[in-house]
Amino acid sequence: MTYELKFDVERGDFETAGLASRKIKKTLQQLGINNKTIRQVSIAGYEGEMNLAIHSDGGYISLMVLDGELVLVIEDTGPGIPDIALAMQEGYSTAGDEVREMGFGAGMGLPNMRNNSDAFEINSEPGVGTRIEMHFNTKT
Ligand SMILES: Nc1ncnc2c1ncn2[C@@H]1O[C@H](COP(=O)(O)OP(=O)(O)OP(=O)(O)O)[C@@H](O)[C@H]1O
Ligand SMILES: [Mg+2]
Repeated sequence: MTYELKFDVERGDFETAGLASRKIKKTLQQLGINNKTIRQVSIAGYEGEMNLAIHSDGGYISLMVLDGELVLVIEDTGPGIPDIALAMQEGYSTAGDEVREMGFGAGMGLPNMRNNSDAFEINSEPGVGTRIEMHFNTKT
């Protein structure tokens, strides 16, 4: 069985931020996916969605439900990440004061995405954009 969900996320869209990951969570619950995987996808999806709103010029988050695994893709159209190894470090953040006052900017989003997925791949090109693909096993 295959199933796909896709949500656009705009830059600075804090009002609806979190909506896509909530809908993804609900869908996975309805599909009867195990709770541990739902938790992992929810965390990874939320972090990815917030990064789109905070750091990107806009993009989308998509979920594919395949036989035995889920694939979460988070892609945007810029500005890209100049040093991926640095961005992946726990605690590294370029978030400004305004964003930090809202409770973001701990520099934990990307590490959380990597730690909660069974496979994690990030590609980014400055001036072009960033694409993150995560896989989650659903067979226990
Ligand atoms: N989609 C993106 N486009 C451009 N830069 C990004 C993107 N995602 C992350 N970054 C860069 O990588 C840094 C680290 O991201 P990460 O999600 O780990 O932390 P954060 O968003 O700053 O804080 P937190 O996620 O803990 O609220 C960001 O501060 C930003 O500089
Ligand atoms: Mg983040």
